[in-house]
Amino acid sequence: MERLIIKGGKQLQGEINCSGAKNSGLPILAASILIDDSVLIGNLPHLKDISTMLELLNSMGTDICFHENGDIEVDSTKIHILEARYDLVKTMRASVLVMGPLVARHGKAKISQPGGCNIGARPINFHLQGLEKMGAQIKSDNKFIYIEAKKLIPIQFEFPNVSVTGTENLMMASVFVEGKTTLKNCAKEPEVEDLANFLNSCGAKIEGAGSSVITIEGVETLKKTHWEVLFDRIEAGTYLVAGAITKGKVRINKIIPEKLKCLIISLEKMGFKIFCSKNSIEIDARQSTIKCQDFSTDPYPGFPTDMQAQLMALNCIGEGSALITEQVFENRFQHVKELRKMGANITLEKNHAVVKGVPNLVGSEVTASDLRASASLVLAGLIGKNRTKINEIHHIDRGYECIEEKLNKLGAEIIREPLA
Ligand code: UD1
Repeated sequence: MERLIIKGGKQLQGEINCSGAKNSGLPILAASILIDDSVLIGNLPHLKDISTMLELLNSMGTDICFHENGDIEVDSTKIHILEARYDLVKTMRASVLVMGPLVARHGKAKISQPGGCNIGARPINFHLQGLEKMGAQIKSDNKFIYIEAKKLIPIQFEFPNVSVTGTENLMMASVFVEGKTTLKNCAKEPEVEDLANFLNSCGAKIEGAGSSVITIEGVETLKKTHWEVLFDRIEAGTYLVAGAITKGKVRINKIIPEKLKCLIISLEKMGFKIFCSKNSIEIDARQSTIKCQDFSTDPYPGFPTDMQAQLMALNCIGEGSALITEQVFENRFQHVKELRKMGANITLEKNHAVVKGVPNLVGSEVTASDLRASASLVLAGLIGKNRTKINEIHHIDRGYECIEEKLNKLGAEIIREPLA
């Protein structure tokens, strides 16, 4: 067990490179199950979730080779155990992403029940409804979901609500289905598009990814490719907020600013200057007066739920007040009680939080409850008077590559301390 200790009050300045997106890397790794050869994947972030997906694939029979240049070669052609184990699904819900590929390639999958998690119930009923409509037989008990399909058929399916991994699972399940599958009300997230582009580079015929209607024409096989995973827009957004909250000047390289549009608009409304070039973004907050700003989370291109906690931390020290509405997950305000320990003035009612700005936060001992909540505590710690100690940081290591190294490079003072 480890914790982070942050000495607040440093103004961040400088530039860093953004890492690859775990939410692109995870479905792309799962999609290796569909390929008739090995695939080379670059720009995968060094994160616990990525290692968990590799461990899951390996437990089913995938060969994994780490190349010196950082690329990972994945060969899932010899998969023979068609099961996502409980101990792995329990640590990472995105393990359910192997379901679509297993059914498409092997006609069978046994997936441990994912259950709820800290941020909500997170059922996978849409994934299962789609597979059932495609002709799969689905049974479940309190431990596992069993899916079997001799032959999948093309369907027209409309998601009752937008689901990122649901869209990805059904897209992957359809790649070999003879005829044309049409998915409606799909998630438009850039990571869905990255997965579709990866599959198309292997020979799949997927159109419309990135829009709400995706069509998939079945192909017989998928071949080898070399793919660079998309940048992590949530990591980039978190470091932009780090620049903003410390009234610093921070540039983030290796990104596509257009994918951060909604966050950029919110930050500009809050009073920050943002400069975008083709592959980088810079925030200059040195002269900014922070104004609190209302926002609501929504599926892409709306404001990302994965940035809600971080922008809330920034609003905590703004002028005025902000109404923050969480519309994607039902229990995504667990950072509120920890931010309050640091002096934030936040009240909660159902899925709304009202933040009244205070001049500064105070360092405290706080506990991370989930990945993005923990990022908001790090941001608050960067400005908190005195020192902030953050416990349970295994949550942050699931989604941020070398967070203290990157922030320290910008001038922060963060150490990682082992706990006895
Ligand atoms: C993905 C992201 C996660 C992000 C989320 C929303 C990955 C690995 N994770 O999670 O970081 O926070 O999108 O942007 O990409 N729902 C159902 N039934 C379903 C599926 C979803 O009711 O079958 C509900 C969920 O409970 C939630 C909402 O739909 O309230 C959106 O969830 P979804 O988009 O599926 O999130 P994930 O794909 O799990």
